[in-house]
Amino acid sequence: MSRRTGAAIALCVLSALTSPAWAADAARGEQVYRKCVSCHTLEANGRNRVGPRLHGLFGRVAGSVADFRYSDALKASGIIWTDQTLDAYLKDSEGFVPGTKMYGGLSLDEDREDLIAYLKSATKTP
Ligand code: HEC
Repeated sequence: MSRRTGAAIALCVLSALTSPAWAADAARGEQVYRKCVSCHTLEANGRNRVGPRLHGLFGRVAGSVADFRYSDALKASGIIWTDQTLDAYLKDSEGFVPGTKMYGGLSLDEDREDLIAYLKSATKTP
């Protein structure tokens, strides 16, 4: 390998690693959702488990599934679920909503971004 191609390859690898905007990958997000499935459902007629059903999540006011017993903290939070609020809650639930009953700490930005892309399609009415 010549020195020039070596340098070009090194440059490519570097730009792939440092590129800030990866495309969110909903298929990968479905894998990340495995961490949530024991406590949540996604379907319109889905049951509440340890956590509330997530159907219709985007644009919904936090704590608004009528037949689920939320913490007072989440009910009083006034949060509307959007990409941004969900990202903050999934990154550090307790930090974002002190007193919430959900423990959440998805520390990898990429995991949260892919998961949110997946949830967007999986929680809406087709
Ligand atoms: C061990 C059970 C458990 C797991 C695992 C879990 N959650 Fe939760 N989740 C809860 C509980 C309990 C609440 C209600 C929190 C409260 O009332 O403070 C909740 C609330 C939520 C809410 C707010 C819903 C609303 O109606 O306001 C969202 C969004 C959410 N979870 C998403 C997720 C996602 C995404 C994952 C996977 C990364 C996940 N949860 C994993 C138990 C869980």
